Amino acid sequence: MPIYNLTVNNQPVSVDAPANLALLWVLRDKLGITGPKYGCGLDVCKACTCLVNGKAVSTCAVKISDVANKKVTTIEGLASGGTLHPVQQAWLDRDVPQCGFCQPGQIMAAVDLLSRTKTPTDADIDAIENMCRCGTYGRIREAIRAAAAMMT
Ligand code: FES
Ligand code: FES
Repeated sequence: MPIYNLTVNNQPVSVDAPANLALLWVLRDKLGITGPKYGCGLDVCKACTCLVNGKAVSTCAVKISDVANKKVTTIEGLASGGTLHPVQQAWLDRDVPQCGFCQPGQIMAAVDLLSRTKTPTDADIDAIENMCRCGTYGRIREAIRAAAAMMT
């Protein structure tokens, strides 16, 4: 199998994998990074959301061959030293999660949004497609607004 080099959570990694293996399975099964979750495998639920070169992607729908030499960030790589990312802190402060399954993906989508704007509108937040079957959308909205305030 080919070897792919990429950076995951600021660490260089080499992965021996078939070209069409989804990034989600590279992260979970080959690298033991379990923050990104498997929900649908169809680029619909977004539970698998991570950042590739800073942009949110559904890792179930991205092949390892498409991320060679790119920078992948999962929720495990968000904190800096002992300090949580402001989005993580806002999530804790607002007690956002219920079952928690969708929440790593929700947080990564919020990080992507706040990298594009520090003053997200309701429409910006509504455009996040990550699903939450526990219905935590109201607290997600509050946490995104709180994180935006922390980041300005
Ligand atoms: S697992 Fe549902 S979008 Fe990736
Ligand atoms: S917190 Fe349960 S699915 Fe979102």
